[in-house]
Amino acid sequence: MRTEQGPLIRRDAYQPLAFGVETVDLDFILDPQATLVTNRMRCVRNPDAAAGPIVLFGEGLVLVSVTLDGAAPTAGQVRETGSGLEIDVDADEVLVEVVTRINPSANLTLSGLYQSRGGYFTQCEAEGFRSITYFPDRPDVMARYTVRLEADAATCPVLLSNGNLLETGALPNGRHFARWEDPFLKPSYLFALVAADLKALERKVDTMSGREVLLQVWVEERDLDRTAHAMDSLVHSLRWDEDVFGLELDLDRFMIVAVSDFNMGAMENKGLNIFNTKYVLANPDTGTDLDFENVESVVAHEYFHNWTGNRVTCRDWFQLTLKEGLTVFRDQQFTADMMARASDSPAAAESARAVTRIANVRGLRSGQFPEDAGPMAHPIRPDAYQEINNFYTATVYQKGAEVIRMIHTLLGREGFRNGMDLYFSYHDGQAVTCDDFVGCMAEANGADLDLFMRWYSQAGTPHLKAEGVYDAASRTYALTLTQHTAPTAGQADKLPLHIPVAIGLIGPDGADLPLQLEGEVRDGNTTRVLQLRSESQTWRFTGIDAEPVPSVLRGFSAPVILDIVEDDARLAFRMAHDSDPFNRWDASQRYMERVVLGLAAAHAAGKPMEVPQAFGLAFRALLVNETLDPAFLAETLALPSETYLLERMQPADPAPLRAALIHLMREIGHAMQADFLSRYLDLEVEGEYRYHPADAGKRALRGLCLRYLSAWGGPTAIDLALKQFEHATDMTERYGALAALVQSDAPQRFDALAAFHERYKDDALVLDKWFQLQAGAWRWSDAAPATLDQVRALMDNPAFSLSNPNKVYALLGGYFRANAAEFHRPDGAGYAFWAEQVIALNKTNPQVASRMARSLEGWRKFTPAIQAGIRAAFERVSAEEGLSPDVAEIVGKALA
Ligand code: PHE
Ligand code: ZN
Repeated sequence: MRTEQGPLIRRDAYQPLAFGVETVDLDFILDPQATLVTNRMRCVRNPDAAAGPIVLFGEGLVLVSVTLDGAAPTAGQVRETGSGLEIDVDADEVLVEVVTRINPSANLTLSGLYQSRGGYFTQCEAEGFRSITYFPDRPDVMARYTVRLEADAATCPVLLSNGNLLETGALPNGRHFARWEDPFLKPSYLFALVAADLKALERKVDTMSGREVLLQVWVEERDLDRTAHAMDSLVHSLRWDEDVFGLELDLDRFMIVAVSDFNMGAMENKGLNIFNTKYVLANPDTGTDLDFENVESVVAHEYFHNWTGNRVTCRDWFQLTLKEGLTVFRDQQFTADMMARASDSPAAAESARAVTRIANVRGLRSGQFPEDAGPMAHPIRPDAYQEINNFYTATVYQKGAEVIRMIHTLLGREGFRNGMDLYFSYHDGQAVTCDDFVGCMAEANGADLDLFMRWYSQAGTPHLKAEGVYDAASRTYALTLTQHTAPTAGQADKLPLHIPVAIGLIGPDGADLPLQLEGEVRDGNTTRVLQLRSESQTWRFTGIDAEPVPSVLRGFSAPVILDIVEDDARLAFRMAHDSDPFNRWDASQRYMERVVLGLAAAHAAGKPMEVPQAFGLAFRALLVNETLDPAFLAETLALPSETYLLERMQPADPAPLRAALIHLMREIGHAMQADFLSRYLDLEVEGEYRYHPADAGKRALRGLCLRYLSAWGGPTAIDLALKQFEHATDMTERYGALAALVQSDAPQRFDALAAFHERYKDDALVLDKWFQLQAGAWRWSDAAPATLDQVRALMDNPAFSLSNPNKVYALLGGYFRANAAEFHRPDGAGYAFWAEQVIALNKTNPQVASRMARSLEGWRKFTPAIQAGIRAAFERVSAEEGLSPDVAEIVGKALA
């Protein structure tokens, strides 16, 4: 095998640098091929570090000159090390000036300084700054920045950087310049500049202390009519952080910039957030309800980073979850609050919060659980990595947020807020660790979180077993919780974790019972949090008159897999009665999982697939329940994701699973056509489109009805979808109808796809939807064209480009990640195509290549025949010369 894996970077090897940087003065003379960067750093000896040279990292730079305090260095004083420069100095302080040349037009990695549609943009997290200039490019080096940038005035009329604008002016030869100053200390990964032809939507607001601040959303002129929602979201975020955490915007100006070529969702550079267009631009004609929701939560996420990430940052990249887990938790809470606020009753608000929670957990189960069970399994604070870019993971982000949520559950709302206040009082302006954060939470509450810290060091999804025994004679119910975590890659031994488990007991009439533990007085509570701190523990509830049905892990109080034996009748009972909306949803998901996997097993054994009648009844009872919130119902009647089901199927086998899903959707659609139809008709939203949770919920349930109906495929169903497609006045309806048609056997779907393309052929973001839909299309009959052939053909569409991440994620990602049955074709052609594309992308954009490579990392869960095909594809990529460290790490771990 030839995969050369990079050196391993270890968390326990952390050492502070001998020299930090106090101030940085950067000067950019921007040019597509030869940008000149002059960097004047005041380097200062760190009294707490071991003696050593000044260490500067640099990658792909042409070094033009170095001076020290204005003079040329002596022979041997400055050395090239392979990863940068080392400079010997005797003094405690020195002004280092480094001049370098870079070529932004040749930079296709979208890290460092690059070009997109004629403009210049930067992306520095995690280690992009070192491909702009030589610098101690680590998050524990915090400095004050001033920046001067100059560029061609006609092509780049807008010149932006972090902080406050000091000065602008014209220069000879049609050039101009701007100078910026960031008053706050920051690590280099938060540096940003933009020079491009953009226009801004602006708004002025007063912060909680009465300071007026200028908010701007910068986009290309043609996109100005899609910026209002991002601006509203920014204002909501600003207010929420003031109200909930007492955190105020600290700058006079806060800018969001949209860019079409971007590897990730968005980036929280100080005062100058740079966003993938996908998470800024939305108007009713081009964005769905989901797009509006995503824009709102990503704007919030980046804005919240200003305190959790920027004011207090990470000591090293192993601490990434310090800022990401916490900030994801904050944006999830924000979304839940926004949803609840728009509700018209307390019950509706509770349901709206549950809908947000359900979406979080769906993401965790289909994105993070597989990661935690595969070769890339790592604790939320990893111990080692080869390429840091590979660790912007579902584990660090989503599981990290679950860990913060557990702290919130254990300490309560106020206790958590007190911990946050203490964290900022101790660490504002510092680069710190996860221990510092949890330490503040513990100290502010007098709580013991030592055992809890294991969540930071242990990988793998714990299994939580719940077993109840009712004793009629003593009227007691004993609930035993037992935890077990299976070994994960590189971590064989697991210890018990501190797990908060919210539970309730449901009486035979469907009502919650008051909970009274042996030896306690009854307080009337019907949900309480049990704290499991050892491998197994039993709780005895008293005064229970009849055998209850336990509702365990309410609200998904911990990121675990709940193993509980429940027969069909009990699941149906909880689907009808669980007072915890999350668990009510979960009961339905568990029942569906059981039914789908049962059908798949029957199919694989050559037996007929029969949908259990009791399941149909439980499903229908919810479908016709008009007292339930439509958004909640849309979640509850939607099948678990295929990715999650594959994770639950042993061994995973995509073909029978797909057959089962198709069969189930058709059967339900057919059997309940009248109910789907009447709900569909009743749920029509009157009036002009507005993004509002109540309307979005109705549209979501309506869309679900349409999908079941078109899966069945009767002429009335297809007619309905075609009518909705033709008469839709917003993207949610138009795209919903198209998706229903594409996820069916209706021959009209091809014309609909063509019409959609014709209408939006110049609209990059809408075309992404069009690509993605086709990549994810199921084959409802043998007559349908093979998805792989479609995907290959779509790569030749003029709008497709391998150098645009959004296009790659939509088309290739759509196929590799969201179409298991088509991707895992028995002939292995899907894998050959995967290898081809990973190899091609590796040459231009390693981060995107690595993300695509990761779509097969869970390969060992599949049947032996499937594994053989995937192994061959991994070996082919592994044999490739010049693999980036990003791809090499993934392939190496997958084959290990
Ligand atoms: N820090 C960004 C966020 O989560 C994500 C990101 C990482 C963007 C690396 C670009 C590069 O908000
Ligand atoms: Zn983030």
